[in-house]
Amino acid sequence: MKSTSIRMKPLIAANWKMNKSIKEADSFIKEFNKFCDSNTADIVICPPFTIMPSLSGMIKGTGIKLGSQNMHFEERGAFTGEISPLMVRELNCEYVIIGHSERRQYFKEDDALINKKVKSALNHGLKPILCVGETLEQRQSKSAMKVIKNQIAGCLNNVDKYEMKNIVIAYEPVWAIGTGKNATPEQAQEVHAYIKKLLSEIYSDSIASKVRIIYGGSVKPENAKELLSMKDIYGALVGGASLDAKSFAAICNSV
Ligand code: PGA
Repeated sequence: MKSTSIRMKPLIAANWKMNKSIKEADSFIKEFNKFCDSNTADIVICPPFTIMPSLSGMIKGTGIKLGSQNMHFEERGAFTGEISPLMVRELNCEYVIIGHSERRQYFKEDDALINKKVKSALNHGLKPILCVGETLEQRQSKSAMKVIKNQIAGCLNNVDKYEMKNIVIAYEPVWAIGTGKNATPEQAQEVHAYIKKLLSEIYSDSIASKVRIIYGGSVKPENAKELLSMKDIYGALVGGASLDAKSFAAICNSV
């Protein structure tokens, strides 16, 4: 049982990354609806951009929410290959993943850029799922907490306290993403509690208690229940296991 008096609704988000065609998404939704019986979680699917318009129709009336995997901070302009907050809003997108470690690693996104995206998302009524997390090397050299502290401070720089209730923070240790090796519930809980403490210091206890901190990194049906039962873990960001309707439904059903 969570100890906070206000029990926040857990959030389970699927990050499909660069996977699935429109046809595959359609079969996924049909199958997922058969297996998912969760009415206790906010369920979000973040598909590739090409699927967003069709998926927006497929999920109508199901309660599933739409998320974007990324966005530019500007509304329009000469930014070849980018997508703007206005464009994703037009598709009824409610959430947007910002600062995923794959964006940081392969597309050189840094905390300053991520901060601009977080503020732009909030200004456009989108809820950022802000990703933070340390590499294996940083964990082994015992600098994980310092890395997380800098990421939180940098990415939330000048983010208004009134906006914090609209932010989700995803703790995703880089060494656990796509490796099949999840953080243990205790390791994840330790970092989640630390992020909560940082939010209390930057903002207040009351604001920190309203921010959902979710875990990502090799979440699967076999480990979801245990991870999600930890005190400060309020959901999951799921990559690989979200591509299969049955396994994503099982994760959603475990909260
Ligand atoms: P994974 O990915 O579940 O495949 O480890 C998680 C993520 O990248 O968000």
